[in-house]
Amino acid sequence: MLELSIKELVKKYPFVIEFFEQNRLDIKGFEEKSFEEFLSCLDEDELEDKAIDIRGLKNELLSYIEQMKEFLGISDGQVNSLTILSGKYKDGKAEPFEKLEIRKSEIISIVGPTGSGKSRLLADIEWAAQGDTPTGRTILINNKPADPKWRYSPNNKLVAQLSQNMNFVMDVSAGEFIKLHAQSRMISDPEKISQEILQAANKLAGESFSSDTPITGLSGGQSRALMIADTAILSASPIVLIDEIENAGIDRKKALKLLVSKDKIVLMATHDPLLALMADKRIVIKNGGIHKIITTTKEEKELCIKLEKVDSVMQRARQSLRMGNALNDEVFFE
Ligand SMILES: Nc1ncnc2c1ncn2[C@@H]1O[C@H](COP(=O)(O)OP(=O)(O)O)[C@@H](O)[C@H]1O
Ligand SMILES: [Mg+2]
Repeated sequence: MLELSIKELVKKYPFVIEFFEQNRLDIKGFEEKSFEEFLSCLDEDELEDKAIDIRGLKNELLSYIEQMKEFLGISDGQVNSLTILSGKYKDGKAEPFEKLEIRKSEIISIVGPTGSGKSRLLADIEWAAQGDTPTGRTILINNKPADPKWRYSPNNKLVAQLSQNMNFVMDVSAGEFIKLHAQSRMISDPEKISQEILQAANKLAGESFSSDTPITGLSGGQSRALMIADTAILSASPIVLIDEIENAGIDRKKALKLLVSKDKIVLMATHDPLLALMADKRIVIKNGGIHKIITTTKEEKELCIKLEKVDSVMQRARQSLRMGNALNDEVFFE
């Protein structure tokens, strides 16, 4: 960590400024240097004057950063597990499992009839429920109750939520929107990352859009694609919650791959067999409760490949219709 330049250190952990101030260290002019280099440039008398012990300072800075990270609930993206401790069904009966642990890079799907409680489960996770929601469930992060203070923190959000309805109210272009987001996350090269996100979004969306397209003018599928690409590439949130992504007119499979390749924990409520079977496990919700937890079998994974073929036939037919073509048997062949 101390090989970073002071500038990078401040960017990553803005609170270190406070450490420098408390210790009356004037870092001005040393922004490009590492903290160690800065210390070695201080003059002996000055150090004595301020009663500074160089070796002590280095360790103090390191432990200050660790403590602040803990205090702020910043995880550096280091969420290794998310655990759901059981609660109750709508009728008050206890859920028939004790706990479900989900590890980094795992995809979990959530299935169940409309009104059964899929969105509720996602909301429990987003809120890091501590027995204080209608389900009575408890959510643990890295085997510890999540610190409620991050619930209110606009930065370092633990969870990114992709929900059914996304209404943009800002009057900016897609490119500006991403750049704003990149800046708020103190990304060093917003221009470059914004290109990357736009490219990824266009791979997901059926119809392409450009950086100049006003976000209010994006179709449902395009805005969804933009949010997914933005979340996958820019969001530091280690947990991604997806509520019924299927009708959005995007390449769901690519979307999922993009999200998962970033070491995240992904939970998605879905009615889509293709998505449900792509997950490692699926949670079956019934009457508000987690009724069953099913590990996707080998047979189901094989079936999933067949379903993908059926799906691409449907996609080609849809695309062809959209282009104003007459449909024929060719949709069955690539
Ligand atoms: N275990 C539960 N106890 C009490 N109310 C619940 C429970 N689970 C879900 N609900 C409530 O039932 C309603 C429907 O749930 P919701 O999550 O929206 O269903 P779905 O997303 O599956 O369509 C919501 O008002 C939700 O708060
Ligand atoms: Mg729902």
